[in-house]
Order: sequence, then C-alpha cells, then structure tokens
Amino acid sequence: MANTGRNKIALIGSGMIGGTLAHLAAKKEMGDIVLFDIAEGMPQGKALDLSQCGPVEGFDAKITGSNDYADIAGADVIIVTAGVPRKPGMSRDDLLGINLKVMKAVGEGIKNNAPDAFVICITNPLDAMVWALREFSGLPHNKVVGMAGVLDSARFATFLAWEFDCSVKDVNAFVLGGHGDTMVPVLSYSTINGIPVKDMAKIKGISEDRLDAIVQRTRAGGGEIVKLLGNGSAYYAPATSAIAMAEAYLGDQKRILPSASYVTGKYGVDGMYVGVPTVIGAGGTEDVVEIELTEDEKTNLKVSTDAVEELLEACKALDSSLA
Ligand code: LMR
Repeated sequence: MANTGRNKIALIGSGMIGGTLAHLAAKKEMGDIVLFDIAEGMPQGKALDLSQCGPVEGFDAKITGSNDYADIAGADVIIVTAGVPRKPGMSRDDLLGINLKVMKAVGEGIKNNAPDAFVICITNPLDAMVWALREFSGLPHNKVVGMAGVLDSARFATFLAWEFDCSVKDVNAFVLGGHGDTMVPVLSYSTINGIPVKDMAKIKGISEDRLDAIVQRTRAGGGEIVKLLGNGSAYYAPATSAIAMAEAYLGDQKRILPSASYVTGKYGVDGMYVGVPTVIGAGGTEDVVEIELTEDEKTNLKVSTDAVEELLEACKALDSSLA
C-alpha cells in the first residue's frame, strides 16, 4: 500500500507480536508507527532497531516508542496486543482475570487519546477482551474488532493445502465462532479453487477422518504453537492477520474477512463479539454476512457462542463497571 496520507498506526504492546506488527507496517509503508508499552525502554529500543531497517529495506516510516498514552493521539488504527500470553497447559480463558485489567487501562487510554481510531484487538481470551475493550473505550461497535477469524482460517487453509498437496493460494477456508477450542471450521464453505473440499476429498481419496483431524488441528492450532515455543504464543501469523484487517480499513477495501465483530440479530447472537464473515472498509466493520449453515454447524456455533457468553459473564463478575 502506498504511503500517501501518512496514516498513524499505534501498537499497544510491544512484545513479539507488537514488534512484528511494527516491522510489517513499516515494510508496507502503511504510515508512521507508535509502539507503546508500559515497560520502559522496550518500545523505544524496538522502535530504534526497526527504524534502522529502513535504509536496508528501503522503507520510509517514522517509528517511535513510547510509555505515554498521549503519544497515540490521532491514531487512525490501533492494534492491541498488550497483556499476557498463555503458557503450555493453559487455555486462553485462564488469562481472563489478568488481561481484563490490562484492557481496562488500554481502553481508557484509547478513550482519552484516540477516540476516532479503528481498533483491532489480539489479546486473549479474544472474544471477551474485544468486548471489554469496546466497553472500556466507549468507541462505537463498528470501530472495535477482534483478530481471530483471519488467523484461524489461515491455519485451516494451511492444513488443507498440506493434506491436498496443493498451493495454499487455491484454498479458501474459513472459521466461525469464538477464538477458543470450540471454534467452528466451516468445511461446507471451504473450497479448493472453487471445488468444495468434500468433493475434492472424494476425488483424491481423502477420508472423512482425515478431514475431521484437520478440523481438530485447526481448533487446537494456537495451543500447538504454544506447546512448541514453550514460552509464548504465535506471533507471525497473528500479526500478518491483523495487518490485513488494518489495510482493509485504511484502504476502504470492503474485504470480507472472518473477524470477531459485534453481532446482533444474526447467527442467533444478540449483542456479542464473535467470529463471523465481516465486511471491513472505511466504516470499520461495515456489515456481517450471515451464511446458511448445516444443522451440525449451527449446533457447533451455538456451543461456541455459549462459551463466549459465559466468558462475558465472568468479565462482569470480575469488574462491576461492566455489569
Ligand atoms: C493463537 O491462536 O495463536 C493465539 O490466540 C495465541 C494462543 O494462545 O493460542
């Protein structure tokens, strides 16, 4: 994307995802970048290091580090990664208490300094944290979204491409529901160059069991990486996914991206953030596309949205300002 209007991108949290986001945004010349963190020195150090990539990689982006929310003022896009990642053996939901407090501080920082931004949340447990961030920031629902569906769908597409021994470029696969173990990879809408995956499986002699295993691996995809890394969670693909969403907003691309969007009156959901196909353009999350699901998919989606609802209740119990 050309750096025509010198947008401002604020990244709240400068750990592994924050640093990767800054590098990607700079390489794509999406705008000037503020890396924020409460840890003194870290955002400044990363900003300095990344700035020195510019002459080698040939990008022109001003990258600064800050510990002061005032420096995010005027941001067009804010991507939130602040908080704690899970460790092997933990579920994302185990992070609820600690990351809810972080979302409170971040939401207030956004409310006071950058109320016109489009905010993309990556912090886990995702669907509850994006909801809480919206509540604490007071931004309109269409300007706050969670990054999960793009990542989960990318995992699903990767595993399908490996199984079918085809280019990942030809796989179109997506995932609905919450960003937890109950997420719903939607096989009935997944295709390989327009050919439904189930038909392609028959052509290639790939069994239902193999497809089920891919669905299960997708559901557990984040945990697989947490276990391998030993001390942290995925960062390259989450950052890439959030950047695609930011580009859709900044470029008014009207992309249909599976995202944790505010859903009301669709998919049997009323007033909750959950992963659904979402049109992202200059208006933020402009529309939610409701697709026809099989009975099994409907049942699975209900299990997933019920799990998200339970987390929202837990948030309200932990912070009375959310009740
Ligand atoms: C992911 O899916 O990679 C992230 O949500 C991080 C995690 O804890 O799994």
